[in-house]
Amino acid sequence: MRYIRFLKPPRIIQDDQSPTKCSLTCLITITSDLGDSFLTEDASIDAETQYEGGNWSNFKRFNWTNGMRTLPIKLPQTYLYTGNVTLRVGLNEFHSPAKCETDKFEILFDKKSHGIVSAYSAPLDPDRERKEAERLIERRFELSGQRVISVWEETGESIARHVWDAGVALSYHIDQVLANPEYESPIANALNPGPGTEGLRILELGTGCGIVGITLATLLPHASVILTDLPEASDIVTRNLSQAQPAKSTTLRFQTLDWDDEELSALTDPIKPSEPAGPSEHSTPIKGPTFDVLVVADCTYNPDSSPALVRTMQRIAKISPEVTIIVAMKKRHPSEDVFFDLMAESGFRLAEGDGVQIELPCDEGCANEVVHVYVYRHRSYKGYAVAAATAKQGARMRDEGGAQRKKKRRIG
Ligand SMILES: C[S@@+](CC[C@H](N)C(=O)[O-])C[C@H]1O[C@@H](n2cnc3c(N)ncnc32)[C@H](O)[C@@H]1O
Repeated sequence: MRYIRFLKPPRIIQDDQSPTKCSLTCLITITSDLGDSFLTEDASIDAETQYEGGNWSNFKRFNWTNGMRTLPIKLPQTYLYTGNVTLRVGLNEFHSPAKCETDKFEILFDKKSHGIVSAYSAPLDPDRERKEAERLIERRFELSGQRVISVWEETGESIARHVWDAGVALSYHIDQVLANPEYESPIANALNPGPGTEGLRILELGTGCGIVGITLATLLPHASVILTDLPEASDIVTRNLSQAQPAKSTTLRFQTLDWDDEELSALTDPIKPSEPAGPSEHSTPIKGPTFDVLVVADCTYNPDSSPALVRTMQRIAKISPEVTIIVAMKKRHPSEDVFFDLMAESGFRLAEGDGVQIELPCDEGCANEVVHVYVYRHRSYKGYAVAAATAKQGARMRDEGGAQRKKKRRIG
């Protein structure tokens, strides 16, 4: 996918000649999530301003051509802005011609689109001397049923403070699964545990800006969703949580959790009163919060941090032996495969087959990119014992049936 980023945030520049005239400028680029490659196709990029209250104005089209690294945007104004104004820079070709309040997931993931994610600026307000926008970008994704999630990210290079392809792709997939009960997906069982089940208790590791956890909380009623990451993600994710609109009776919060910490002390504040973990291979039941679903998106990119990540998953499986782990990864390098070895060595098994592949829409420069979604369970998961017992019983019945038939044949 490609993300429009503000290299220089939008600024209102007043005309020297006329105090009532001004223009709005910024410098953009269009890159991959890592920022290591640029859009390689020509594209019409539209810029437009939106006033507080919803009115759009000053539409102008700009041309991005293959080989470009930056594109200056300038919207000439005939009068000075008053009140809050936001700049949107995005692709309109496959959305409505202009005035795009959001990026529709459905359209963003359509192969025909370039997978270009629009950028919405922080508000400017010349009246209050806010003539330069904060160094932030808002991503607005429209889920099915016209629900919208807003995710702010920073314009800088920090890994934790912008959204990543696997997070966007998994959020899109979750939306599809929850919107269509018939939709076949390896994550469907985990997210639709069936009637009579209490609200899901969900934990996300390495949430970054929070896109996946916020999507889950927006779509799942009666759930408890805890997003976790290093302290450096705290400011941006807190901003995003303050704008989130969780579904009915769903709670959503952030806690710091470093995979390198030996203890899950960050999670000692449980979402439900402490309760003993269910039966497991571990001799002493451990007290603490338990989780039904653990979500991890785009956290396996660094093989050096995989051991700590997997150890954290192990600790969580110890307090929640029934947990289903959903891992979304966009493989960028073969060395990332160490994650699978570590998972197997740590007692995790791939459940629900080999997962699912989500194709990322893109240009020639990033062709054939996919996000894999895998589902894991720990070997202490009760369902395995039940499945094994059923299989054993089935085999015994088959053996017995065979013996009976042989006996009958002999008697006959
Ligand atoms: C590539 S980002 C993915 C963010 C988000 N899940 C998404 O898909 O947009 C990886 C995340 O893992 C977090 N992370 C890396 N090392 C960590 C550690 N030791 N403990 C906790 N989080 C860590 C980073 O801070 C970052 O937010």
